[in-house]
Amino acid sequence: MDRKIKSLKDLTKTLDRGMGYEAVSKIVSDIEIPFEDIEPYCTWSDERYTRTQLHKTEVYELVLICCEPGQSSFIHNYDAQEGWAKIVKGELTLEQYYISAINGHIHPVSKEVLQKGATAYQNDYIGFHKMYNSGKERSVSLHVYSGPVEKWHIWDEDKGKAIEIDPWFDQKFDL
Ligand SMILES: [Fe+2]
Repeated sequence: MDRKIKSLKDLTKTLDRGMGYEAVSKIVSDIEIPFEDIEPYCTWSDERYTRTQLHKTEVYELVLICCEPGQSSFIHNYDAQEGWAKIVKGELTLEQYYISAINGHIHPVSKEVLQKGATAYQNDYIGFHKMYNSGKERSVSLHVYSGPVEKWHIWDEDKGKAIEIDPWFDQKFDL
């Protein structure tokens, strides 16, 4: 990342993101791994997108997400952790949500289409979001969570509130 901090607001925002933000952002933007190296770890399901744990330490977790066209994550946020994504194949759309403190209603506030090579960043201050494959081909993305996400909060549309779940994995490796 070659971004300069040009205001106090920008400085506090950057610090609020955590001391590892710049370093991990640089690493994620530097990823240029050939897809052939990633493909052997991919797994697919007609039911929902798949999550493969590639590596986990106390500090971070590296996850591979494979999404058929149209498949989507829940609307979710993390357990006060941060997450970076790198699109290595296909297209994903990242949708951010706003939850009203008055009536608990949730609605989308922004949408960003990410193509192969793009990066994205999320934390709980940014709030609830979901990612879905908005393209015509399969999508594959790498995700770095710092620290590892032990709990998710997903938005239960029927109940109109957030519920806590444990992240699941379809496969686990220790690269
Ligand atoms: Fe996420």
